[in-house]
Amino acid sequence: MSNDPRYYTPPIPNGWFQVAYDDEVKPGDVIPLKYFGKDLVLFRTEGGELTVLDAFCPHLGAHLGHGGCVKGESIQCPFHAWRFGADGKCVEVPYAQRQPKKADIPRWHVQVTAGLVMVWHHAEGKAPEWTLPEVPEFGSPEWTDYTKRRWQIRTRNQEMAENQVDSAHFHYVHGATNMPQSEASVDGHIMRVRSTTGMTTPMGPVQGVVASESHGFGFSMIRFGGIVDTLLISSVTPIDEDNVDVRFSFMVKKIGGSGVTAGVGKAFVAEIERQLEQDIPIWENKIQHARPLLCDGDGPIGLFRRWCTQFYSWPQDTPQAAE
Ligand code: FES
Ligand SMILES: [Fe+2]
Repeated sequence: MSNDPRYYTPPIPNGWFQVAYDDEVKPGDVIPLKYFGKDLVLFRTEGGELTVLDAFCPHLGAHLGHGGCVKGESIQCPFHAWRFGADGKCVEVPYAQRQPKKADIPRWHVQVTAGLVMVWHHAEGKAPEWTLPEVPEFGSPEWTDYTKRRWQIRTRNQEMAENQVDSAHFHYVHGATNMPQSEASVDGHIMRVRSTTGMTTPMGPVQGVVASESHGFGFSMIRFGGIVDTLLISSVTPIDEDNVDVRFSFMVKKIGGSGVTAGVGKAFVAEIERQLEQDIPIWENKIQHARPLLCDGDGPIGLFRRWCTQFYSWPQDTPQAAE
């Protein structure tokens, strides 16, 4: 972390964060992950249970995600074949007379919502403090399947989340035809933002409504109305203190034939991609001020910043730990 007081370097935040898509992990799959500054392993047992464990074997430290394999309801280490259940408990050391005690591997809490595999990260190891909502559009015959996009960006969750309430940048960075009016409200770990904005579309300028609902920093549902109803699930997962893995999952409400929906959906996804790629060079090169200098046209950034504080476990020696 930077010791320069002008710069604000928050710790890796707490909350639910996406590590995979449910339909991309089949029974028997073993996937190494690097998130939250840690090495993890994701696997699905033959019976279908999804599990995320710390990656390193307590024996001699092999990475279970590189060469480990699923055996029934357990994962077998590639080095000396110790086996661990989906709960992380050591179930077999094949060549030992006495099974070693304390050979268990820490297990992460997993929740699947709207086809996203989410894990709970808490810097102090606290159990989940909330659950994620169902997404009614997911799986509905009136909506398309996901169109997925992914980026790795050198920024932090709070920086990306702040975009939603940063009204002025929509005009100056993204070319919105007017300055959007944004109203934000906070309810515990949930923040809702409703904005009306002028958008340039292939069919000309339209007045669009954007309503977002964020459950912590890792999971936001952003609903766009205007020409066509679209839902974007934005998931941002910390890789370490300075880099994030971003997954955008788009669904479009079906209109007319499938060709019409696909055409409109494609144009919409392209527009959101264009906007994100305009933000990236700003995020990757900016600093984060602890106390930004705001003006009256800035949108509800102050409210947003207060909402953010609940997601951090500040180390003991930082002034924020006392706040
Ligand atoms: S390192 Fe895993 S069984 Fe030896
Ligand atoms: Fe933006």
